[in-house]
Amino acid sequence: MARKKLVAGNWKMNGLLASKSLLLEISREYGNAACDILVCPPATLINALRGGTIAIGGQDCHWNESGAHTGDISAAMLADAGADAVILGHSERRTDHGETDEMVAKKTEAAWKAGLMAVVCVGETGDERDAGTTLDRIGAQLDASIPDGATGKNLVVAYEPVWAIGTGRIPEMSDIAEVHDFIRSKLKDRFGGDTAEAVRVLYGGSVKPGNAEEIFAVSNVDGALVGGASLKAEDFGGIISAAK
Ligand code: PGA
Repeated sequence: MARKKLVAGNWKMNGLLASKSLLLEISREYGNAACDILVCPPATLINALRGGTIAIGGQDCHWNESGAHTGDISAAMLADAGADAVILGHSERRTDHGETDEMVAKKTEAAWKAGLMAVVCVGETGDERDAGTTLDRIGAQLDASIPDGATGKNLVVAYEPVWAIGTGRIPEMSDIAEVHDFIRSKLKDRFGGDTAEAVRVLYGGSVKPGNAEEIFAVSNVDGALVGGASLKAEDFGGIISAAK
């Protein structure tokens, strides 16, 4: 069965209550698109944006359900607020908050327990790409960041080269293909062919309306995780329209 493409917007630390108009515009203009759409706003907005035709996600969660963790939010809380999914292990979390693969795996388990789809991010740094160790890095991240129990419904993998995030630079299409093919084969070794064929693998890092079609045509690319371009309805919409 063909995988339905997913275009996911990562608003990062952007968005106020007034941003509801952005979501409504996306929903009105692109709600009938051929792909699935997910928007991940700051957690403060999940409850305000829930309930429409577009799936809503968080950008991180703690691995515990509740407790003495000032400033953290649990997966159960995201689900309670109306989230359907959560981004985990984004490179900005790994860098800004010292998140390790082991922490990401625990967070993924917590997300699944709360009924959320986990969008687990992996990606090499510029130095790793230059050193030719990209696949080693991605393989190690996949092994340690994804717990047992993955299915096509509860897991999405996002390949985001760290050097491509917010820089306007993207890999060669052949490099994207190499990594996505590798991720698919790693998933197959670990979870079996049926699951591996069902899990969507997104590309992320400087996806724009102008490069989306080319990226979506690459082997084993099942959509995109979009940062900057998800903050403008027209740009996000251009990417959604390219996802057939
Ligand atoms: P970008 O961010 O589209 O602004 O490069 C992607 C991401 O960080 O998910």
